[in-house]
Amino acid sequence: MASGLRVSNLSLKYGGVSALCGLSMDLAPGEVIGLIGPNGSGKTSFLNLVTGFEFPTEGAIFFEGQELTGKSAQSIARKGIARTFQNLQVFSRLSVYENMRAGCHRCSKPSSSFWQFKAARNAEKERILSLLDCFSLADMALDTPEALTLVQLRQLDLARALASEPKLILLDEPAAGMTPYETDQLAKTLQDHVLNGRSAIIIEHKIDFIAALAKRTFVLSAGRAIADGPTDEVLCDKDVRRIYLGECG
Ligand SMILES: Nc1ncnc2c1ncn2[C@@H]1O[C@H](COP(=O)(O)OP(=O)(O)O)[C@@H](O)[C@H]1O
Ligand SMILES: [Mg+2]
Repeated sequence: MASGLRVSNLSLKYGGVSALCGLSMDLAPGEVIGLIGPNGSGKTSFLNLVTGFEFPTEGAIFFEGQELTGKSAQSIARKGIARTFQNLQVFSRLSVYENMRAGCHRCSKPSSSFWQFKAARNAEKERILSLLDCFSLADMALDTPEALTLVQLRQLDLARALASEPKLILLDEPAAGMTPYETDQLAKTLQDHVLNGRSAIIIEHKIDFIAALAKRTFVLSAGRAIADGPTDEVLCDKDVRRIYLGECG
């Protein structure tokens, strides 16, 4: 049976800085995990390793039974893993629509005939228009990203990640900079259109957002796992509250 994501004993060092230390995690197909921890605890580094943007100093990464360790970001995207970025990365000279096409290209496979190419192109167009519609960006398809608000840029980043129809999506602080209302709206969109049956790891400092979306939460502190379990139990854990939420006693 196809398994989900399995990371084993993962470590990452930047020179003398240990960003991650001996991290292991299993994610079942369709499971949604919240990933929390103080700034600098290694959350983004973990996403960088799983998506091939960095390579581990030690440890191994498997997805659906295949080893991903050392593979390029593009080949990992082709296996069905997509991500968003904490520091938004959009192509500023391309239109919203073209940015979406770039998301499709990350995982597109070569066509063996003109008709196959044409069918794939049509399917891509439909998929992009439907995603832009879902994220209320359809009217801005021909604009460049500079015309978008921060919320719309975050939505574009998310829609672009979804354009490749990933089996696993990794979200790095998707609600950063959003008001409570915008954060609630994003949680609803994720619930209704993104997470239905798809595996996800969601990094976010807004605890209510994590609690609304993830049944399981994983906590990092200084590159090490300090808790992993049902979200409600983890958020009540004494050490988690002391280290992450800054509570005394
Ligand atoms: N490119 C880099 N070069 C050197 N150190 C880095 C780099 N990226 C992250 N770090 C360090 O690795 C640690 C983990 O960072 P990061 O994964 O960004 O944490 P988080 O996402 O939890 O805030 C921090 O100490 C950070 O300063
Ligand atoms: Mg980060």
